[in-house]
Amino acid sequence: MASIQNQIVFITGASSGIGAACAQAFAQAGAQLILAARRLDRLEKLAEDLAKSGCQTYLLQLDVRDRPQVESTLAALPAPWSAVDILVNNAGLSRGLDKLHEGRVQDWEE
Ligand SMILES: NC(=O)c1ccc[n+]([C@@H]2O[C@H](COP(=O)([O-])OP(=O)(O)OC[C@H]3O[C@@H](n4cnc5c(N)ncnc54)[C@H](OP(=O)(O)O)[C@@H]3O)[C@@H](O)[C@H]2O)c1
Repeated sequence: MASIQNQIVFITGASSGIGAACAQAFAQAGAQLILAARRLDRLEKLAEDLAKSGCQTYLLQLDVRDRPQVESTLAALPAPWSAVDILVNNAGLSRGLDKLHEGRVQDWEE
């Protein structure tokens, strides 16, 4: 299996739940993390905890429903953070339960 040591992992919805748990797991595996969510205070607390084990983080206060903001934020990522290896596209709420190819894009954005 490929090592994720020093890989850059971008996690949306990292301020709680599954996203925060993924952040802990990837940090333990030696990855560097871009953590995104709307609640910056929660991201800062998480980053503080992860830093204790040597994990480097880059925080983004981001609303994934705001497409222009998402595009401009991603375009402005500085090196080396712009070279994302793994995306955990986790932010959101469960809306549509259709099959992926039959669903509405809006179910993933709203
Ligand atoms: N838990 C389950 O059993 C389950 C089952 C099926 C699918 N899922 C999916 O798994 C994902 C995480 O679920 P969870 O249980 O961990 O939920 P959660 O604890 O409520 O976490 C949701 C995360 O998404 C972020 N988020 C929500 N809306 C956002 C927005 N507009 N822009 C940016 N970030 C946003 C929240 O951060 P902020 O509020 O700080 O922005 C939070 O970090 C969701 O997409 C959910 O649909 C969960």
